[in-house]
Amino acid sequence: MSSSVLSRRQFFGLAAASAALASSANAEAASSTERDFSQFSFTSNGRTAKIFSSAITEPITILQISDSHLYLDDERDAEYREFSARMAKAYNHTKRFSDGKETNPTEMFAEIADYAKDQKFDAIALTGDIVSFPSLANVEFVKEKMDLTETPYFYSCGNHDWHYEGLPGSEKELRDQWIEKRLKPLYPEGVDPLCYSRIVKGVNLLLIDDSINEILPRQLEFLRAELAKNLPTLVFLHIPLFAPERDLDYAIGHPDFNDVHDRYWESERRPRWPREGHTAVTYDFRDEVVNAKNVLGVFAGHVHGTSLDLLNGTPSNVVTAAYDGSTLRIELQPFPKRPAPRRD
Ligand SMILES: [Fe+2]
Repeated sequence: MSSSVLSRRQFFGLAAASAALASSANAEAASSTERDFSQFSFTSNGRTAKIFSSAITEPITILQISDSHLYLDDERDAEYREFSARMAKAYNHTKRFSDGKETNPTEMFAEIADYAKDQKFDAIALTGDIVSFPSLANVEFVKEKMDLTETPYFYSCGNHDWHYEGLPGSEKELRDQWIEKRLKPLYPEGVDPLCYSRIVKGVNLLLIDDSINEILPRQLEFLRAELAKNLPTLVFLHIPLFAPERDLDYAIGHPDFNDVHDRYWESERRPRWPREGHTAVTYDFRDEVVNAKNVLGVFAGHVHGTSLDLLNGTPSNVVTAAYDGSTLRIELQPFPKRPAPRRD
């Protein structure tokens, strides 16, 4: 398994080096394509994922938080109660993963924020369903706790963050509306909330919103432009990429994604998945992520369970829900150097 991964990455590493020579007119592009992707290793126990790469120059730690499903609400959003009622009761009582103690999403989110502050991560990635609906109380709480960590945090929506169940409109429209109306304070200033990037210690973090089970053309263009930088890259999504044998929670590029297989459209009071299934853009997005030699990992949530798939050699991770205190610690480190070989 590992040798095929390495050979794939070595192949693309050589291809990138050739490309660098061909595009020497662009000094910036040429210097980034000189990154050495020849050595790669990945290990995970579901709580900590470690990536070793020859393209990494200094250690980096990132905390991924997903699916905390906060349900805070107050009188300011009383008019939306009929649209938040089901989700307001969905995850109120949880058990802390570490000791089984009875708890709740609010308490766990506060505990995770304290942990993040203590650990001094280089970045925090919030990969959706952080809130179960976009109430003012929810957004204010998340912002307050994340600001307290004194850590750069990067947020992207899940399918619940912007969703008041039963409000009329398409998912695309409702997502845009509620990001603008409520969720915007959670994003870095001035970014496109549906796709943005940040470079942290030389690693390109991509936050791409796939919360409507679809990738838009501008998101695919964004991906291509970011991958062309040829930096070591991590892709953060809410809904995981399709992997054979995985169910429809792994919807991005899933061949069975269509109206017939949509089990939750009535209970979630949203439009049914399209009869025709995915767009070509969504399929292309999935394929281009897993075929990119500089994508060192994909990190999603949505499933509320931990999983790891190798997709064309790229580790595709799912972190379990933060409502029980779970997170994923992502560590990136330079690939260990070998001492000079023995001379027999
Ligand atoms: Fe969720």
